[in-house]
Amino acid sequence: MCLTRTNESALIRFVNLKGGVIIIKENPYRNLFHLEPDCGLLNDPNGLIQFQGRYYFFHQWNRFSLDHGYKEWGAFTSSDLNHWDHLGSAVLPDSKEDSDGAYSGSAIEHDNKMYLFYTGNTKNSGIRKTYQRMAYSSNGYTFIKSEKVIETPSGFTEHHRDPKVWQSNGIWWMIVGAQTIDQVGAINLFSSTDLEDWKYEGVFYSAQTLDQMCECPDYFQLGDAEILVVCPQKRTSLLNGNENISSYAGYLVGAFEKNNKCFRPESDIMLIDEGFDFYAPQSFTDEKNRRILVGWMSRMDEAEEKDCPTTAFNYLHCLTIPRELFWENSRLYQRPLEELKSLRKKRITLTKANAKLLSDSGAYELDIQLVNQTTPFEISMNNGNTVIQFDGKSKLVISRLNWVSGQREIKELHIPNLFEIQIFNDASAMEIFMNKGEKVFSMRYFCAEEKREIFYSGLQENGSIDYYSYKEE
Ligand code: FRU
Repeated sequence: MCLTRTNESALIRFVNLKGGVIIIKENPYRNLFHLEPDCGLLNDPNGLIQFQGRYYFFHQWNRFSLDHGYKEWGAFTSSDLNHWDHLGSAVLPDSKEDSDGAYSGSAIEHDNKMYLFYTGNTKNSGIRKTYQRMAYSSNGYTFIKSEKVIETPSGFTEHHRDPKVWQSNGIWWMIVGAQTIDQVGAINLFSSTDLEDWKYEGVFYSAQTLDQMCECPDYFQLGDAEILVVCPQKRTSLLNGNENISSYAGYLVGAFEKNNKCFRPESDIMLIDEGFDFYAPQSFTDEKNRRILVGWMSRMDEAEEKDCPTTAFNYLHCLTIPRELFWENSRLYQRPLEELKSLRKKRITLTKANAKLLSDSGAYELDIQLVNQTTPFEISMNNGNTVIQFDGKSKLVISRLNWVSGQREIKELHIPNLFEIQIFNDASAMEIFMNKGEKVFSMRYFCAEEKREIFYSGLQENGSIDYYSYKEE
């Protein structure tokens, strides 16, 4: 399997044999700076780590088909967070305790070894049983699975997955997403001194707000705050026919009470990302001590997967760009990494009220500075597919054309004192950072034309827009 790809070539060729005729199609959706597989379905980021200087972004992967029937860990690596190689498979579902999927998990470094923690999913005669498992590596390429597994504690169903591990005061802690037997979302806590034997410590956190199951929990210290990331899997609501309610990723602020071995929340759940496509984020700290977060840019919608235009090129989904996290003004801020700036090529600064621009590749950054913007401002990108409208007060309406319904899909945000909108537009993925990362909005969109028009109107005096193309134009 050849999976090495650098971001130099955004357009790959898809070769299809039809009745003996070779059809070569350019792929207008192939992203330049969003990580995506060359083939198969990618979902959650897994095991994010910087190990022996190199960054590793593992991910959930079905390399055989575009559905969720098979799962292993694939691996992207990079030395600079801009140029990535895909190493192919890292953790395979090849043993009795993970025969039906090597599900999500995390990574840590200890004694010059990389340790991956993941969920082994099994379904014998259709009955689910899960195990939290560990695999380690000295070189970051070959992994040895430990025979020791963690079984699900009593009082919980086998929807027990996505271990996240960290160390504090010489103790290793692990949290695992769980479902109580009464079908309430929960997070379980385990501890270990050697990364092999784990003791169940009890429920770290559980609440009705976690819906019927909590996936992909994460916990970390940021400044003087302790953050718990939760992904309530809203399956019950979906089963009840309310298709407007979907799973989301949120965070709570609180405290890990070491005596009671649980997380005491001091806030409600807040959204990490306001966009259409964001789920199962994971964070890690790198050697520069930055807390970096990456999410999966999708929302687990069968129809959207089936009709996604990239299926014609035999792959699905991408990850968000890595974001550095900050704790400021008693809230979470997310900002694109500094490294991304080195992708900037040509720069155009615009200060006119209305203007039209043509992007040759669809891969660019727009830094919009609003100064006393008290009248409406609108910007439409990707030939009208994606639109941002600001009412000059605090309302921001972001919309895109949904590729299943063909209808415009809208989300409304309220941001008092909006002064900056930074847009990272890739061939089929867009991330919008507002007010230096106070709010973030992620979405996929699919525009078949390669040349993309940007049109804006209503920019007030002193406002400016910097356009940076990410490809030579
Ligand atoms: C979240 C999730 C995880 C699970 C993985 C399986 O998207 O459902 O809970 O480990 O995906 O691919």
